[in-house]
Order: sequence, then C-alpha cells, then structure tokens
Amino acid sequence: KEAKLWGGRFEEGVTDAVERFTESISFDKALYKQDIMGSRAHASMLANQGLMSVSDRDSIVEGLNQIEEQIERGEFVWRTDREDVHMNIEATLTDLIGEPAKKLHTARSRNDQVSTDFRLWCRDAIDTIVSYIKQLQVALVRLAKKNIGVIVPGYAHLRKAEPVLLQHRLVAYVEQLGFDARRLLDCRARLNFCPLGACALAGTGLPIDRFMTSDALGFTAPMRNSMDAVSDRDFILELLSGNAIMALHLSWLGEEWGLWASEESGYNVEAFCGKSARLVGDLVTLQVLCKGLPLTYNRDLQEDKEPVFDSVETIIGMLKGSTDFAQNITYDQDRIQKALPSGHLDTSSCVDRDSVLEGLDQIEKQIERGEFVLVQNEESAKNLHTARSQNGQVPTDFHLWCYDAIDTIVSHIKHLQVAFVRLARKNTGVIVPGYTHLQ
Ligand code: ARG
Repeated sequence: KEAKLWGGRFEEGVTDAVERFTESISFDKALYKQDIMGSRAHASMLANQGLMSVSDRDSIVEGLNQIEEQIERGEFVWRTDREDVHMNIEATLTDLIGEPAKKLHTARSRNDQVSTDFRLWCRDAIDTIVSYIKQLQVALVRLAKKNIGVIVPGYAHLRKAEPVLLQHRLVAYVEQLGFDARRLLDCRARLNFCPLGACALAGTGLPIDRFMTSDALGFTAPMRNSMDAVSDRDFILELLSGNAIMALHLSWLGEEWGLWASEESGYNVEAFCGKSARLVGDLVTLQVLCKGLPLTYNRDLQEDKEPVFDSVETIIGMLKGSTDFAQNITYDQDRIQKALPSGHLDTSSCVDRDSVLEGLDQIEKQIERGEFVLVQNEESAKNLHTARSQNGQVPTDFHLWCYDAIDTIVSHIKHLQVAFVRLARKNTGVIVPGYTHLQ
C-alpha cells in the first residue's frame, strides 16, 4: 500500500476504516473526463513555457489518452487507497509511463485542480439541463396545441375563480422554465473562469501561462485571485439554488396534475409525484457545508460533490419525467365542461382559436431557436421587458421594491470592497501565514 500524501504524521499509516471514511473516489470518479482534460492542457502549457520537455509532454498526453480509454471501457482499477480521482489518475499515469508523470504536478495542486474539474463538470451539466428544459417547454406547448380552446377553471386559494384557457396555464409553466434556464445560464457565465495557476493557495513563482490553460479549456479568463480560486464554492451554491427553484416550479406542475387527477376533479387521467424536497435538501447541505469555513482550501470541501451530483441527476430526472408526462397526458374534456358551471366562474371568455394557435406556434419556434431561454445581453433583456409590459405585466410594487433593495445592497457591497482594498493598501508588504486545512 502506498503512503498517503498527508500521512506523514501517522507512524503506521492510516487504518482501513479511516481510509474508507476519508476517500472520495467512490463518487468523484465522475470527474475523470474533466480531470484528464485539465491535465492535458496543463502539460501542454508546461511544455510551451519550457517547464517540461516536449517528449515528456507527449508521453503524458499519450498516457492520459490510454487511461481515458481504459476508464471508458470499464477496465480502469479505481483504488480507495489512492483516495480521489486526481490521485488515482496521476498514480496510474506513473505506473504507466514512469518518471515523466511526476512532472505533471509542477505548478499545480489538487486544490486548484479540483476546482477546475468541478467548474468544467458544472458547465456541461448546465448545458445538459438547459437542453432538457427546452424539450419540456416544447412538450408543454404541443400539449397546449393539442387542447386548443379548452376552457378550464382557473383556481385561486384552491377555489375555482375564473375560467381560463388551458393553454394559458400550460404556457405559464413554459415561461417559468424560461426563467429557470436563464438563471442557470447566468450561473454558467459566472463560473466559467479558470482556477489553474492558483496552485495550493498562493500561486507559483514559475513562469506559467495561465491564459493558455484557460483558453485551452474554454474558460473566459483565469481567475484573478488564487485564494478565492481554491476556496470559493459560490458557483455550486448558485447552480443548486437554480435547480431548487426549478424543482419548486416543477412541483407546482406535478401538484396540478396530481390534484387534477383526483376523484373530485378527474380532469386528467394520471397523477404525478415530485422530488423537489430533495433538491432543496441538497442546496441546504451545501450552504451548511460552506458556512464559516476559513480561507483557503479545507478538506470539508470534499463533501461538496455528492449534493451537486444528486441535484443535477434528480433535476434531469424530473425534467425528463415531466416531458414524458406532457407528451402523454390526456384531458377529459367532458369532465372539465361539467365542472365549469360550479364555483365562482362568473366571467365569460371568448376564444379566437386561430390566433391562439398562431401564438403557440410562435412560442414553439422561439424555444427551438433558443430565444425563449437565452438572454445574453442587456439589449435582449430590455426587449424581453418590453414584451412583458405589452402583455400587461408591468413591474409590480414588489418588483420595484426589489430593484431598489438590490441597488442598495450593491452599493453596500462596493463600500465593503473599497474598505478591504484600503485595508490592504494600509498594510502593503505585510506577510501573513496562508492557511489550508487550518494550518
Ligand atoms: N478530493 C479533494 C476534494 O475533492 C481534492 C482536493 C484535495 N486537496 C487537498 N489538499 N487535500 O476536495
């Protein structure tokens, strides 16, 4: 058995129980692709900067390719004593190609490595989730088209309040999902900065080129502060918040389908159940994990993977399940007609079938072009707002109050930032211990 990187203080090495308790390979092997990608980029950069010979780089890249194939064929042996995905891959690379593999860790630490891998993983996860959101949106629009002109009771406080078009309800969910997608895409833009070069916490004196690795991995730019790079997990907090909000939206949809399938209403034929509590739970796990952690990397952070994997897997399952449902659900129009006269449905609604259908066609096309989810710049955000106002959805009091609140909070953030910069300037040149794992 190999000695632990951090095992120096144990006379006899760690026990199997401790090893099992502290390993992360059983779940973080999911990051293998990103880890290998990052290593290839890092080795190429080192060679480019003269920090590694070209032949060493070639054998590293060749070795990494082999490892990737082994993993994909299911032949790779993941070892618990090698702790995590980074060490499993690096140690196997050493077994495979020998000496050159050891140079791969030049100007790198697992601290900047794991943050890089995880950002790359989340970036892909967001793209996948957004593509499932689109499918659900399209399925809901098609469901609306299939039931064109159907008038259903519109509920408020669980009571029938006004008759509404079924498509009006369904498209409300389409709209919510559009905001959900935008929320994740905003998160994607913010997480897409490269931690590599931060090393353990304070960077390196070696002449590396951080822009080269950042570009090679498709990041917008290198992260600016190395301590922030290795410790902050705001990007997963954001991703999981986005997933939790979306799960709440889907829980409304599921609840509607569930209630509508009940004996009393029987408007549609099947019930639907949700998993939204789990996504809220994953978010809370992460929030508690991150609370009060001192800079910089702390081993607690290894616990950040499972809630993220679970949240992403579950939200994809919910989106797929809802899409499937939307494609197959049927509404019992007779039951719905009979239900309409009861309650307080005193408004009448007249339906222009053709214009509604045309509207739905337009929405479907927009979704397929990606316009219903992407607000990439200020300009299109403004257009979106115009479109909403035209629909009569002018900002409400609460929206306006929140705009002001945000402005106020941001101005206080600025004050705090300035105070920190001034504090740093007042103490220029003071050298302090940089901590990792409280040491
Ligand atoms: N497996 C660790 C994690 O996921 C990798 C980083 C470990 N770094 C360290 N210095 N122990 O967080």
